[in-house]
Amino acid sequence: MNKRIKAGPSILAADFSNLSVEIKRAEDAGVDFLHCDIMDGHFVPNITFGPAIIRDIRKHTKLILDVHLMIEKPRKFLEAFVKAGSDIITVHIETVERPIQLIKEIKELGLKAGISLNPRTPVKDIAPVLNMVDLVLVMTVNPGFGGQEFISSCLSKIKRIRRAFSGDIEVDGGINYKTAKMAVEAGANMLVAGTYLFGSDNMKGSVEKLKDIKV
Ligand code: DX5
Ligand code: ZN
Repeated sequence: MNKRIKAGPSILAADFSNLSVEIKRAEDAGVDFLHCDIMDGHFVPNITFGPAIIRDIRKHTKLILDVHLMIEKPRKFLEAFVKAGSDIITVHIETVERPIQLIKEIKELGLKAGISLNPRTPVKDIAPVLNMVDLVLVMTVNPGFGGQEFISSCLSKIKRIRRAFSGDIEVDGGINYKTAKMAVEAGANMLVAGTYLFGSDNMKGSVEKLKDIKV
C-alpha cells in the first residue's frame, strides 16, 4: 500500500515565546499539520499546555491541528479541546476505560479520532477500536519529552498494525530522515518530528525530504 506521506512538526520543540513566528515558519515549510503535545504530569512525567494555547494557535493558522492527549481522564477535557479548535484528537489506550465510547464521541463531534499506544503496550490492546479510528499513533519513544532516541523495536508493531488497518499510521518520537524511512518502510505514512524539524536550518528542505521518502 502506498499512501501519501504527511509530515508535521511537534510544537513542543518550538520557541514558545515566539509561537506565531514558529507557526508561520512551519507553514512556509509546507508541513501538513501541527502536532500539539498535551501532557498532564500524571500520565507522563512532564507538563506542557492546555486548550487555551490550542485556541490561540487556531487564530494564527488554518493548518490541521493534530492534538495528542497524553493525559489521564481524557474524556473530561474533550469538550474543551474540541471548542479550542482541534481537528484531530488522539487519546492513549492506556488512559481510557471505555475506548469505543470515547472514539465514538470524538467522531460524533465531527473530528478525526486517533488511538495511541506506548512502546510497551501490545497491539492487541487497540484491536477493539481499530475499525473505528481514523489514525493510529504509534509512540516510538516513551512519551513525556522531545529529543529522545527512536525505539526501533516499535517497527514490528507498525508492520502488524498496517496488516490490519488502512487508515493513517502516525509515528511520534525520535523521528529524523533515517528513522522516518524505517517507519515508512514498516507502514507508517504520517510523520511527527519535533527536534528534527524545528531544529533544522532549512525546515522546508527537511519537510520535503520526509514527504519524498520512497519505499
Ligand atoms: C513525546 C511527544 C512527541 C515529541 C516528539 O512525548 O509526544 O511528539 O515531542 O519530539 P522529537 O521529534 O523531538 O522526538
Ligand atoms: Zn506527540
